Amino acid sequence: MSFYEKKWWKEAIGYEIYLKSFKDSNNDGIGDLNGIREKLDYLKDLGVTLLWICPFYKSPMDDNGYDVSDYFTVDPAFGTLDDMKNLIKEAHQKGLKVIIDFVLNQTSDEHQWFIESRKSKNNPYRDYYIWADGRVVDGKLIEPTNWASFFGGSCWEYDKQTEQFYMKIFSKKMPDLNWANKEVRLAMQETARFWLDLGIDGFRADAVAHIGRRKRLSDSTMKSTEKYKPDWRMFSNLPVLFDYLKEFKENVFSKYDIMTVGEVGGGATPSEAIRYAGVKEGSLSMVFNFDHCWSNNVWQLTDPHQEVKVDLINLKKVFDKWQRGQYEKAWAPIYWLNHDQPRLMSHYGNPKKPYLSGSMLGSALYFMWGTPFIYQGEEIGMTNYPFKTIADFNDISVKNLYQIEVVQNKRSQTEFINKISFTSRDNARTIMNWDDSKYAGFSNVEPWFKITPDYREVNVKKALESEKSILKHYRKIFRLRKDKNYLPTLVYGTYKQILKQNPHVYAYLREADKTILTVVNFFDFETLVYLRGYRVVKILLSNYDDSSTVLTKLKLRSYEAVTYLVEKR
Ligand code: GLC
Ligand code: CA
Repeated sequence: MSFYEKKWWKEAIGYEIYLKSFKDSNNDGIGDLNGIREKLDYLKDLGVTLLWICPFYKSPMDDNGYDVSDYFTVDPAFGTLDDMKNLIKEAHQKGLKVIIDFVLNQTSDEHQWFIESRKSKNNPYRDYYIWADGRVVDGKLIEPTNWASFFGGSCWEYDKQTEQFYMKIFSKKMPDLNWANKEVRLAMQETARFWLDLGIDGFRADAVAHIGRRKRLSDSTMKSTEKYKPDWRMFSNLPVLFDYLKEFKENVFSKYDIMTVGEVGGGATPSEAIRYAGVKEGSLSMVFNFDHCWSNNVWQLTDPHQEVKVDLINLKKVFDKWQRGQYEKAWAPIYWLNHDQPRLMSHYGNPKKPYLSGSMLGSALYFMWGTPFIYQGEEIGMTNYPFKTIADFNDISVKNLYQIEVVQNKRSQTEFINKISFTSRDNARTIMNWDDSKYAGFSNVEPWFKITPDYREVNVKKALESEKSILKHYRKIFRLRKDKNYLPTLVYGTYKQILKQNPHVYAYLREADKTILTVVNFFDFETLVYLRGYRVVKILLSNYDDSSTVLTKLKLRSYEAVTYLVEKR
């Protein structure tokens, strides 16, 4: 396939739904599949054409569904298989594609395979998971390696029954599947086929970077003070996984007109992204990476009153590296956040100036090259939750870390909560704010999780009623991306940054048959830039009514974001 070959998923506008918090249709306090059906028109009006639905499979919910106990059943909390069929049908009728989260790396410990696997060393399912003997050091039994888990502690869990450890890079209720075992690969391929035959349009391949394992188990030599080393390279982006994906593509993906987007953490590089999703050699359509998530100080802050500072130069470098690194070689998604990150408004935006900063962030990202993925609530500028005590959290990774850092290592509880509040995944998992009624229009009963205290101001109803809102700005961006005059440029055109050294302004050109320039001021103060070589034909979009067209001396006000159709002089 050529890079420029037209495909529906290259032109799509994606929207991620964290099902549990999106919309509750039957008033049990939990978001569900029929809740999504109620909101299809809302999504369509926003300009969305592709839904990514987080896991809805049967699950004990240790990690809210990323711990699957049966891939062929919808968890009763979320609905039924018929609800899913109806959702797919209705979405398709409205012109929306549906992709689902495919949890490949692990299952729940309550999955039948694991229940069998842990019974004995010669159980037929033993090899479905990764088992290893511990080591005896100074008379004490310790883990097979010193590798950390993403959710705190070791990536190994001891199982008394057979006196071996099993690998679990997330929680202990999420044992890792052994992809080296062909039976596992075939079973997962069968799962994929089941959902594809039901009519879905593809997958978001969860934690796909980790399915390839090293054969040799040896300690990481990483220098760190932690007991277990956060050396993600030990189980991320290893060459063998590309063979597994190739086989998957040959047997399954290639038989359908679908898209696949892999989640690629573990410090992947653009050249690795090309191995996953390359036009020639790739097995997936595109992959998410996380590099743009770290360009500010939220990971260091320790007190809620401290100021969040954006490092724009660094962010621009990251954008440049990935946009230019993949263009023409692989397709890519663009996104600000997902259900594992803090809220965009509290991260790169300014909750005191929601419309201006939120619309600026939209323009900064979504005129770039790649398939946009919005995360629920981003379009209304939802903010982080003011967590106070450990009981306010739901996320298993926070609970695990709390056990280790506060309970075992006696770190101050306040300090722990203050720090983790800035970055916790739970920020993105609060209830979606639909309106200003008692339960934010999510449900008629108390929801399973928190509602942000600002929901009476920050909600969909208000965004739809206001003349100016982030939501309306997002709509305009997506309208432009789909406009046949601009689509060839905005979807397939080249990307080039200008003003690279400017620490306050992000400016970039997209070019094909037309040239489109986006210039945004990332900060809450006025600034001037001097742009030579271009003449403005017209303003395509601005978050101010009276933006200047004098590029040679362009004044940008607080968070001003302008997209111009230009001609080269
Ligand atoms: C991915 C998901 C995350 C989940 C993990 C384990 O990173 O996005 O939410 O906890 O995989 O499945
Ligand atoms: Ca429900």
